[in-house]
Parts: sequence; structure tokens; C-alpha cells
Amino acid sequence: MANLVSRTEYEERLTASRDARMAWWREARFGMFVHIGLYSVLGHHEWAMASENWSPREYEKLADRFKPAPECAREWARLAKSAGMKYMILTTRHHEGFSLWDSAVNPFNSVNYGPKRDIVREFAEACRENGLRIGFYSSLMDWHHPDGGRSAYDSDARKRFTDYIYSLNEELLSNYGKIDILWYDVARPMETFEGWNSLEMNQRLRALQPDIIINNRSLLPEDFGTPEERVVPEEGRDWESCMTFNGLSWGYIDSKQAEPYSYNAPRILRMLAVCASNGGNLLLNIGPGPDGSIPPESREPLKAVGKWLSQNGEGVYGKLYNFKGIRGVGGRLLSLSRKGNTVYAWNWIWPESGDLIIAGLTGKLRSARLLWNGRSLSFTQEKYRINFGVPLREDRDPLGVTVIALEFEHEPGMVPYAAQPPLTLGRVWDV
Ligand code: GLC
Repeated sequence: MANLVSRTEYEERLTASRDARMAWWREARFGMFVHIGLYSVLGHHEWAMASENWSPREYEKLADRFKPAPECAREWARLAKSAGMKYMILTTRHHEGFSLWDSAVNPFNSVNYGPKRDIVREFAEACRENGLRIGFYSSLMDWHHPDGGRSAYDSDARKRFTDYIYSLNEELLSNYGKIDILWYDVARPMETFEGWNSLEMNQRLRALQPDIIINNRSLLPEDFGTPEERVVPEEGRDWESCMTFNGLSWGYIDSKQAEPYSYNAPRILRMLAVCASNGGNLLLNIGPGPDGSIPPESREPLKAVGKWLSQNGEGVYGKLYNFKGIRGVGGRLLSLSRKGNTVYAWNWIWPESGDLIIAGLTGKLRSARLLWNGRSLSFTQEKYRINFGVPLREDRDPLGVTVIALEFEHEPGMVPYAAQPPLTLGRVWDV
């Protein structure tokens, strides 16, 4: 039983344990979000039940056509691993209210209906097999539960409903071994943390999983911020940008429609660069089909990113320092991340003619090396200007995102005139 404390004391305790609890998360950088549920059968968007006004009875019938293949969780995990991702978050129950596990409190679940299997268990096992950390997404809102809407104005219903939500999460955090992340979503219809009883709920849940990391969507700040569909650093706290793969839907939509909007590998690296240079993580979504298969438009770019990360991961994972990210240097846009005395300069443009120059960094440069092929670069350094001469065309990274590791004698800085105001990027497609 959790020993309940006041909000102030709760938050002090969280702050005191945060560095230890989040050490792995702060170095992980890249995770996979998986949205799958009955909405995947429709393929209209995961909000279809509400936006198309389905009655619960009518919607339940979709379960007959929800048949994720037995191996699908393994395939997601294998892809995540080969993409260089370090953790996964599964929608264990989305707003539609269908639990993907053997729930005693929610009979509307994947063991009673549809595949007749515990998908959450398969997911947790697949993550463990592939050395990935495990996260559970858990919606607060529930369109299927009779008290879900009523709890806005009926206090008895609210009590039943918040107890129900607690019990679901208690099952998830009791029956599947060590769980690393609890990822709440959409606190509706109550609009305050008191309305959800979040302070008590989260203390009780943390007592079950003392090392767990919880996001900010139960209306308490908890451990990290969750900018959605934009890669914008949050100042002064841990943050993770969650992104759909296509800007259209988290849930499955067919490839013909999704493909033209889907990210390619360089676009994904663009997002990762902002995360790497500003201390954040990227949680990139796939929306498998109702048979659990991975959309092809996600598979190929993720594999290419994984190959790139296998050569360039040094500048992406681990304890990186904020170097205020992208700024204009010599007419190019460049991203910078730093580890100790080494700055990683992400070059998006590889000069076709003329010299490759990086300006604005202070300190004496000791060596320069291309991450992707390991080649050392010769250079001259004059004041704040490092000149690599005319770059070889074949030194350009095959994906076109060429990272140079610049090792300085001491911790480098940036000259004030070249330093830009704190990075405030708009949506990632404005970058
Ligand atoms: C939302 C949406 C939801 C999605 C989530 C992921 O706020 O309601 O469908 O699962 O964002 O971040």
C-alpha cells in the first residue's frame, strides 16, 4: 500500500529520484509508439468511434475483424530495434475502451473478443526479447464505459469511473513484470488532476513500479512533457515529442493514402537532430493494420534510419549537452550536439563546389572525423573559422546527413555573435 503524501512532498520525492529513474531515458533518444486497436479495422483514424458517432454496441462488432497475427508484436519490436529505437509504447487501451489484455475489470478486451489473446503480454515479451524498454499508453478518456461521459457531472459515476481507470492501470503495472513508462493520454471529461484523483492514483501506481517514468497527461507535471506533432524543446524539463508517421492519423490508414504524407529517412533525422541537440526524445508512431502488419511506408524509412544510426549513433545517443541546435552558419543550416569536448556537426548541405566551413565555435580543434565512414578530415583553423577545404563528394553520407565529430582540446563554446536566441522551431516541417 502506498503511503500517501501531499502534492508538494510527492513532487519533491519525484525530483529527488528523477536523475536515477530517468538516466536510461535521457540517453535513449528514440522510441516507437504503436497505435493498434479496433479502430485499425476501420482504418479511418483512431478517433473514428467519436467522429463517426458509433454506438458502443455497433462498434463492439469490429472486434470480430480484429485479428492481429500471433507474431506481430515481435515484428514491431524487431523493426524498432533495427531502427535504432530503444523503447516502445503500446496503446494498451485507446479512447474506444477496448483493452488489449486479459483484464478482470474490463470484459471488453482482446482475450474475450477478437484475437482471444493477451496482446499486452506478447508486446512486453517481444520488447524484452529485443532489449527494448517497455511503455504502456493508457487513455484516461473512455467512450465505451457507461460512466465515461457521465462522470463529468455525476459524482457517483465519477467515483466509479476513476476507480475503474485506476484498476486498469493497476492490472497493467502488476501483471507484466517491470514496466518502464506509463504514458497517459486525454484527461477528459474531468479537467483537473483532482477530478481524476491523479495525485493518489499516481502515488499508488508508483508504489507498484518504483522506477517508473510517467508523462504529464494526467494533469500533473510528473516526469516529462509531451509536445505532440511538433518537435519543440521544452525549456527546463525533460521532453519527448510524439509524432505520427504521416501527419494524418495515429491509427492505421491504408498505404495509398498515407504514403504521400509519410516521412522519409532524412525527415526523421531532421527531427532526431532537434532532439539530440536539445536534450529531448523522439517517439515516432507506427499504426499497424488490423492483422498487426507494419505499414510499408514506415518500414523502409525506419530501416534506413537504423542503418544511419548504426554509423552515426555516437552523436545521437548518450549524455549530450544542449548546444542550441540549428542555426545559420556560413549560409547553411547546421545542427550541433555536444558530448564532452566533442561537437557533432550535422551537415544538411554538402558543398558541391567551394570549401566546407564551420564557423562560430571557440576552442582549439584537435581532430575532425566523419562519423559515417570514420575518415579523418584535415582542416585549418583561423579564429572562429574551421575550413576543411573542398569536401570529397564521396564523403557525403549516403542519406545526405553527414555528421562531423569535432574534437576540441577543451570544452568548446560558441562565439556570442554567432549564437542564436534559444531554438524556437515551429512545426518540424517549418525547420
Ligand atoms: C492524442 C489523441 C490520440 C493519440 C495521442 C498520441 O491527443 O487523442 O488519438 O493517441 O494524442 O499522443
